[in-house]
Amino acid sequence: MKLVAGNWKMFKGPGETREFCQAFRMPQGVEAVVCPPYLSLAAAVESGQTVFAQNVHWADHGAYTGEVSAPMLLELGVAGAIVGHSERRQYFGESDETVARRTVAALGHDLRVIACVGESLEERESGQMELVLRLQVESICDAIGAHDALTVAYEPVWAIGTGRTATAEQAREAHAFVKSLLDVPVLYGGSVKPDNAAELLSQEDVDGALVGGASLEVESFTAICQAAAGIS
Ligand code: PGA
Repeated sequence: MKLVAGNWKMFKGPGETREFCQAFRMPQGVEAVVCPPYLSLAAAVESGQTVFAQNVHWADHGAYTGEVSAPMLLELGVAGAIVGHSERRQYFGESDETVARRTVAALGHDLRVIACVGESLEERESGQMELVLRLQVESICDAIGAHDALTVAYEPVWAIGTGRTATAEQAREAHAFVKSLLDVPVLYGGSVKPDNAAELLSQEDVDGALVGGASLEVESFTAICQAAAGIS
């Protein structure tokens, strides 16, 4: 069964979260999860959805202003967390090392993890895509290896929020490469929309999608989930 995760980024407070979750019905044959901002996690959990956070710290508690730990997420009923999203890497100094630490801690607490990897346009154009993916994936691999609760999301940075997706072939190639390094399910992310979801999701080694912009509306998120359900 494919996994479709809606990464809401810094959108939707608790009120809008409740409205979305009450309106959203997960189609059969797909697993859909929503990833609201921390502040809205409780509202989403209370609405009965499967909920992932957008990040998680490696320590259980401590002097880490602005961070949230795995035990805190579990207390709320959160099922997992995204780690290493390219926006965290780009704007908040997330490194391969901190991504690996967050992954290990979350899995150690029985949270599921979607660990994000992906190359920038410059890296792809200068022929460094495999090198970048290798470094990102191997740091997770060295820290924990394959794990039942671990999923990787391949998100080419140049496709995120740009309306430009990887071609089916580019996605297939990158997913196969990631899986050759770490044998876990791999989601595709980067401008997944209702009109391109079926093509991307039907590629070999594409086990689901991490959706940003198109996950904010019930209608488009549902359409992407339906596309995924039709394929699995
Ligand atoms: P997008 O974002 O679908 O808006 O491109 C994807 C992501 O950042 O996970």
